[in-house]
Amino acid sequence: MDVLNLDDYDADKINEMLDKAQAFKDGKQVNYEGKKIIANLFFEPSTRTHYSFDMAGLKLGCKTQNFNAGDSSLKKGESLYDTVKTFEMFGVDAVVIRHKENEYYKQLVEKLNIPILNAGDGTGNHPSQSLLDLLTIRQEFGRFEGLKIVIVGDIKHSRVAHTNIQIMKRLGMKVYTSGPEEYKEEGYDYISLDDIIDKVDIVMLLRVQHERHTDQMELTKEEYNKNYGLNEKRVKKMKKEAIIMHPAPFNRNVEITDDVVECEKSRIFKQVENGVFVRMALINMVLGE
Ligand code: NCD
Repeated sequence: MDVLNLDDYDADKINEMLDKAQAFKDGKQVNYEGKKIIANLFFEPSTRTHYSFDMAGLKLGCKTQNFNAGDSSLKKGESLYDTVKTFEMFGVDAVVIRHKENEYYKQLVEKLNIPILNAGDGTGNHPSQSLLDLLTIRQEFGRFEGLKIVIVGDIKHSRVAHTNIQIMKRLGMKVYTSGPEEYKEEGYDYISLDDIIDKVDIVMLLRVQHERHTDQMELTKEEYNKNYGLNEKRVKKMKKEAIIMHPAPFNRNVEITDDVVECEKSRIFKQVENGVFVRMALINMVLGE
């Protein structure tokens, strides 16, 4: 069993995965006693996703291998498939992969005999991130149906936005998008942040993903924040129970000002905490009891 794309699961299965993650948060224990080994293969930079998958494996009593793309044979031109197959032959029980190519996993699934956990493919999918976002939302509101969210920023380049928009709509949420025209994507309900900020339950910010852009952003940090970012002034307009989310890493004082990162409405570090429990649930799901 692989976890590649949340489109593969219906709403009941999604809720079941969240229940499992919540159970880990509430103290459920599973211990593989060092008999399972997970390889974390990150071909793109990552802090949270990489090391929370690693932490999740360690908390389940797995052993982990962490692949460093920078000093590997990738430098000698080795392909993705040959690299991953190598880890399979070492004897690992599952691989966690992040790669810059959309749907990189399509070239692997048929040829590998161990589970793949997708830790992000290009601008496509980021299933474990969406699940941790959903867990954070469910803990807060106890439901998805009828909730309103605005996802703000670099929608076009964001696998987090792409995954979340699909799954949140399927779960009955109303999803708006907002941000600079150049990062807008057709087909989504697009609205100015100031027109929606007082009506939504969740404001989810995205990082401006400079590494995926061909042109330099023309706006200064201040201009970006003034037009499209979150700051004290906009937080004051949010509904009383509304929360702030961000997958991180965040550009402080660009999409979110310093004083708001850890304000009372922010769930940004709670998302990080939930990430470990969600990844424990996913690892446990693919490895079995
Ligand atoms: C995101 C990613 O890499 O997809 N971060 C994450 O996984 N927590 C978003 C980003 O890098 O901006």
